[in-house]
Amino acid sequence: LPNCSRRLWGVQDVKRTLPERDAHSHKGTHGKGLFVGGSLFMPGSVAMSARAALRSGAGLVAIATDEQAIPSVSPYVQEATFVELKEEGQAVSGYDAVAVGMGLGRRPYCGKVVKQLMQEVDGPLLIDADGLHLLKGSLDELERRSAPTVLTPHPGEFAHLTGLTAPEVLQSPFVYSREFAERYGAYIVLKGPSTIITAPDGEQRVDRSGNAGLAKGGSGDVLSGILISMIMQSNGLMDALSNGCVLHGYTAELLVEAGHSKVDLLASDVIEGLSRTFRTLS
Ligand code: APR
Ligand code: MG
Repeated sequence: LPNCSRRLWGVQDVKRTLPERDAHSHKGTHGKGLFVGGSLFMPGSVAMSARAALRSGAGLVAIATDEQAIPSVSPYVQEATFVELKEEGQAVSGYDAVAVGMGLGRRPYCGKVVKQLMQEVDGPLLIDADGLHLLKGSLDELERRSAPTVLTPHPGEFAHLTGLTAPEVLQSPFVYSREFAERYGAYIVLKGPSTIITAPDGEQRVDRSGNAGLAKGGSGDVLSGILISMIMQSNGLMDALSNGCVLHGYTAELLVEAGHSKVDLLASDVIEGLSRTFRTLS
């Protein structure tokens, strides 16, 4: 039989595998991440991803966004540096991981941006939200990539990518995730109340953390930031992704225990709630 383990990943697994912060570390030790996204009418998403990465321990964060969006994104992430997103392409060297898509929009030139990143980013590349929509046009590039690619679709986005319907995806999420991961050599984080993490070799893990407080715009953007941070600070991609998903969900659980409700919880509360999560875990 091929590798068909479906391991449940929980808080105890995070405690066991989360790397400790070295007392002698410097910011470079914890990774420099680039977030490509945000636009005039969606400045919040990339801001939340970048801030979530910093709250999860990332050493340095840069944001590539529309020039017009920089003034609205920057006050929210004072620790970040900015580059203007350009149609002709971005400088992508010198980063330990890159994420693209959050609030990027779907203008035609954004498709070129996603394609360029797939060709030129020689480390881990995470593709989310609009990036996933645009990826549909360059799946051959995905197949050609040799560095790791992580896709973080919700069922609707995964349906769009695969040509299935969302109900079909939900009926056999394990099967379709594995087929896609193996075919394209990508890591798939299929999000939902249960999130399934699949490696290109077919290994699958399940994260059941979180609550319906996360069913609100922005939660996915926060997850992308946490995942980039974990990717930069862990040795293995599967542990990084599984830990990131549990940190995200567990934070929502702690917040709902400690005063928030599932109704009022905001994605930005989850970012600030990471403080308590990391204190609890270490
Ligand atoms: N229980 C547990 N976890 C949940 C639940 C739930 N009931 N509902 C949602 N989540 C978690 C998911 O597992 C995932 O990590 O919240 C996150 C939601 O991510 P997305 O579906 O990407 O949602 P969103 O934050 O709104 O995405 C922002 O990206 O996908 C696009 O069109 C979308 O513009 C939107 C943007
Ligand atoms: Mg999303």
